[in-house]
Amino acid sequence: MSTFKALRVYNEDRRIEARFVQMSLDELTAGEVVIRCVYSTINYKDALAITGAGKILRQYPLNAGIDVAGYVESSSDARFKAGDAVVVTGCGLSETLDGGYAEFARVPTNLVIPLPNGLSLYDSMAIGTAGFTAALAVQRMQDNGQSPDLGSIVVTGATGGVGSLAIDMLSHQGYSVTALTSKVAQIEYLKSLGATQVLLASELEMGTRPLEAAQWGGAIDNLGGDVLAWLTRTVKPWGNIASIGLASSIQLNTTVMPFILRAVSLLGINSTDVPPALRQKVWQRLASDLRPQHFDKIITREVSLDEVPSVVGAYVSNQITGRAIVKISQP
Ligand SMILES: NC(=O)c1ccc[n+]([C@@H]2O[C@H](COP(=O)([O-])OP(=O)(O)OC[C@H]3O[C@@H](n4cnc5c(N)ncnc54)[C@H](OP(=O)(O)O)[C@@H]3O)[C@@H](O)[C@H]2O)c1
Repeated sequence: MSTFKALRVYNEDRRIEARFVQMSLDELTAGEVVIRCVYSTINYKDALAITGAGKILRQYPLNAGIDVAGYVESSSDARFKAGDAVVVTGCGLSETLDGGYAEFARVPTNLVIPLPNGLSLYDSMAIGTAGFTAALAVQRMQDNGQSPDLGSIVVTGATGGVGSLAIDMLSHQGYSVTALTSKVAQIEYLKSLGATQVLLASELEMGTRPLEAAQWGGAIDNLGGDVLAWLTRTVKPWGNIASIGLASSIQLNTTVMPFILRAVSLLGINSTDVPPALRQKVWQRLASDLRPQHFDKIITREVSLDEVPSVVGAYVSNQITGRAIVKISQP
């Protein structure tokens, strides 16, 4: 191939613009492994990067797309060879490295995961950063003693990618799951993924005391802000709260009382900077005991690379449910 198509994000006079370009392999950020991209996906972070609604890229220009799955085209590192099926999620794609919304990507070896047995390339992008992050949260909560008998786990931002996959994984692990959503029309969807109870954000009574009645075994939070503060006040003694997202706010206004009187743990989840052994372990679990059970319900749309710019706005305005697959080339 001489040139290939990429969706590249520019910052020109502080105006963020994503546009399709033709580029050559040697223009890509450096790495040992060249991947022919087959599938990607769309995460909230991708929408922020392409629309400029949030600052994701730390250098410009870069190809967008934080996730990619495909086949090794060539590798200067003997650990991979042409034809290997591989996955890269997060790890700095579309932040400091050229990302997966392109026909080819070139990445450092230590970021590349061999496609785990039991997952197809499609499955791996149905999971993507959203599923990897949900699984990392479950892993960290379990490492810190979260068991089903502690009580129901609240999942916020429930209809999103992380939320949908977290509900699926937790319920399959035997936890009771309470989904918190802003979307009244999606109650049945959330129950079909395994939620035993659905709370509507508009009806939530959060109170203001440093400690409210302890109700929840733990939580996976995608929102931040008032909802995360409410979770700290209402999780039972020894429960864990995994803080993943900021879809509502980056603020957290709470007190130390939940931590020192209830031994509640607030676990920070960063899917980008994960020690390689833990990243491998989480992927192995995603192909086995944490494998999502409801891809058919969670993957609500498949789009082409060309269609990506026209669909990302809906993520920023909270109009989506579930996840999208981006099909880049023939598997
Ligand atoms: N820490 C990490 O490494 C990491 C990794 C992946 C994602 N994230 C973050 O996790 C969050 C979820 O990511 P995602 O890919 O699942 O996003 P997504 O698919 O766009 O879903 C986000 C969900 O949050 C809720 N929401 C969206 N905008 C909101 C708003 N303005 N106010 C209140 N709720 C809103 C909606 O759920 P309901 O309508 O059901 O309430 C929406 O479905 C994002 O903040 C993302 O940046 C962090």
